[in-house]
Amino acid sequence: MTSKMLATNEHAEAKAEGELVATGLVSGYHQSPILSGIDLRVRRGEVLCVLGANGAGKSTLARTLVGLLPLRQGEIVLDGEAVGHLPVGDRVVRGLSLVPEGRALFPSLRVADNLRLGAFSRNRAQLAAAVDDVLDLFPALRPRLRQLAGTLSGGEQQMLAIGRALVARPNYLVLDEPSLGLAPIIVDRILGKVRELADSAMGIVLIEQNASLALSISDFAVVMERGVKVVEGPAKDIATDDAVVRAYFGGVGRSETATHSPKTRIRESGERNQ
Ligand SMILES: Nc1ncnc2c1ncn2[C@@H]1O[C@H](COP(=O)(O)OP(=O)(O)O)[C@@H](O)[C@H]1O
Ligand SMILES: [Mg+2]
Repeated sequence: MTSKMLATNEHAEAKAEGELVATGLVSGYHQSPILSGIDLRVRRGEVLCVLGANGAGKSTLARTLVGLLPLRQGEIVLDGEAVGHLPVGDRVVRGLSLVPEGRALFPSLRVADNLRLGAFSRNRAQLAAAVDDVLDLFPALRPRLRQLAGTLSGGEQQMLAIGRALVARPNYLVLDEPSLGLAPIIVDRILGKVRELADSAMGIVLIEQNASLALSISDFAVVMERGVKVVEGPAKDIATDDAVVRAYFGGVGRSETATHSPKTRIRESGERNQ
């Protein structure tokens, strides 16, 4: 393959070297820090699943990654560039987008207008092409373009929220609980699309409470508790690690004695934050 061909195939090129790396993230609201030293890494082509109970700090992590909350300590490196102190829009332009918890659509605007709002510094032709790609990914939205977003079903609204983020053509996408409030069959469909996006060389941070389903489409996973990462490892090891499942997902392990997969790492109680 010639270098010119490689250059036109941005996916192949980026898959080899693109990654989003967060180290020692500290952030929070007002006086109280919520995240106290989180490290994460996701490469393009991979889904990193972030699990944890309500209040663990998952949305705080999402907001910190994309720049909606200021970083107090630590750094975020996007494809080799430190972006931890850039405003949200500058991170979007560099390829990092958020699908926020609760979708944050404009219900009284049309579907098409909600999609266009996802564009950052794109000319008309680029915007039209990006919207078209979203409609190819979520064909259910195509006949609804002129409808008001608030009249869509919950599943369609989630597709629209993801679509709006995709219009900016991100290389990395942070999804904050995309399955919240949706029927299992719709969740399956949406998480299937999330996997497709990763397979097209996007790096995905997937925040979920639905652990088993999220793990099934993820490559790696972390579990958060009170603002720190307490478990990390390959998704398939975490899904089958009885000790982790019992401790964090309220499930019953498969065997009588809890077995701990050697590939998952559970934080020792005496371990200090970074
Ligand atoms: N806007 C806010 N102002 C103050 N505290 C907040 C705010 N949002 C979240 N928190 C607190 O931060 C902690 C983590 O919340 P959050 O990141 O939303 O957790 P999760 O997404 O894992 O449920 C909780 O104790 C929550 O009360
Ligand atoms: Mg949340």
